[in-house]
Amino acid sequence: MKPIHVGLLGIGTVGGGTFAVLRRNQEEISRRAGRGILIKAVADKDVERARKLVGGSAEVTDDAFALVGRPDIDIVVELIGGTRIAKDLILAAIANGKHVVTANKALLAHHGNEIFLAAQKKGVMVAFEAAVAGGVPIIKALREGLTANRIEWIAGIINGTSNFILSEMRENGSSFGDVLAQAQKLGYAEADPTFDIEGIDAAHKLTIMAAIAFGIPMQFDKVYTEGISKLTKEDIRYAEELGYRIKLLGITRRTDKGIELRVHPTLIPSKRLIANVEGVMNAILVKGDAVGPTLYYGAGAGAEPTASAVVADLVDVTRMHTADPEQRVPHLAFQPDRMSDLPILAMEEVETSYYLRLRVLDRPGVLADITRILADQSISIDAMVQKEPSEGEEQVDIIMLTHLTVEKNTNDAISRIESLPVISGKVTRIRLEELGRN
Ligand code: HSE
Repeated sequence: MKPIHVGLLGIGTVGGGTFAVLRRNQEEISRRAGRGILIKAVADKDVERARKLVGGSAEVTDDAFALVGRPDIDIVVELIGGTRIAKDLILAAIANGKHVVTANKALLAHHGNEIFLAAQKKGVMVAFEAAVAGGVPIIKALREGLTANRIEWIAGIINGTSNFILSEMRENGSSFGDVLAQAQKLGYAEADPTFDIEGIDAAHKLTIMAAIAFGIPMQFDKVYTEGISKLTKEDIRYAEELGYRIKLLGITRRTDKGIELRVHPTLIPSKRLIANVEGVMNAILVKGDAVGPTLYYGAGAGAEPTASAVVADLVDVTRMHTADPEQRVPHLAFQPDRMSDLPILAMEEVETSYYLRLRVLDRPGVLADITRILADQSISIDAMVQKEPSEGEEQVDIIMLTHLTVEKNTNDAISRIESLPVISGKVTRIRLEELGRN
C-alpha cells in the first residue's frame, strides 16, 4: 500500500523531532501502522532552515495555506503554535477533508469546541496527544485505557518549566530568574515564558484533560489560575520542614456541586510519588472509581518526547484512515450528543486545605487574635510552627496548616488577619492536597 502523506506545518523544535523520529523508526512504525508514513511537504516561514533540516527528502514551502489544500496530502500536522494562524490553517485543513494532528494546547483550550464540531461534521480526526504532557500518553489513557471508570479527580504536574524551577530552587537554592533562563535555553519554556510560570500553559492542558475526563466542553475561561512567580525560597523550606513539597498542580475534581478546575502551587505530602517528580518531568495522577489512583510519568517537553506523541497520533490516524468512520473513538471520549453540562465550581466554593504564612509582631495575644478569626470562619488548624525571631528582629513567621475548608472562608479570614495592626505585609496562602485515595 502506498504510504500515507503528511503535510507538516512548522519545523521548529517539535517538528524537527517528529521528522527525526519518523525517519529513524520508519520501518517499525510502518509495521505498526500497516502503511508507511511519509512527510511529503513541510511549510515553514524559514524556508532555508527547513530545507537544511529535511535535506531534500520533502518539499519545502512557505505557503502553509496552499499545503493544507493539496489533494496529495492525507494528514496535516500543525506544530506552529499560537491561536490565530494555526486555527485558520486547521479549520482550512478540516474543510479540505484532511485529518489533523496537533500539539497546540492553547488553541484547543480556547477553540477546541469549534474545531471538534467542524471535524465531526466533516468526518475527520483531530488528534492531540502531544498537547498534554508531551510524550506521556495521558490522552489515550483517559479516553481509552480508563474508559470503564467514572473519573473522580485528576491532579497533574503538567508544566515542566515550572517544575524544573521549583526543583532547582528547592535542591540548589538557585534564583528564580537563573533557572528560568536555563529552561528557556533547553527549549522547555513556551515562546512567552509567562505562560509557564503563571500557570496558563498548565491551565490549557487541564482544560483539555477535564473535557475528556468528564465529558464537558472545553472551558478555559473558568479555570482558576495562579502561577509560581510569587513563591519564595522560605515557603519551599517551611513546607519541607512540615513534610510537604510545593508543586504547581493542575487539579480537576468532580463534586456534588460541580467540577473544580484549578491551577495553583500546592503542598503535597513528600511521601507521595508525585511529590518526588523533579526537573522537567511531568506526572499525572488520575483517580478512577474502579481502578483507584493511577500515575502517568514521563518527559513533558522537548523535541523527541513530544514527537513521540505526534507520531503515535499519526499511527492512530493512519490505522483509522481506512476503518469504518462510525467506529472512531470520539474526539473528547464521550459521544458529542452525550456531553454533560455539569457546572464548573467557582473557586470560592472549592474545598481544600491551606498553608498560611504570616509575619507578625512577637507580642502577647497576637496568636489569640489570629486563631479567633480562623475559628469565626470555622477554619480548623492542623499544624502550626512559630519560628524564633532573628537577632534584633521584632517580627516572626508563623506557619499554619489548616484542615479542609471552603476557599471563601479562607479569603474572609485572610483579609481580616491582614487588617490586624500586628501583621506585616500580606498573608502567604498556598493550597494543600493530600492526594490520598479520596
Ligand atoms: N512549556 C511547556 C512545559 C512545554 O514547560 O511543560 C510543553 O508543553
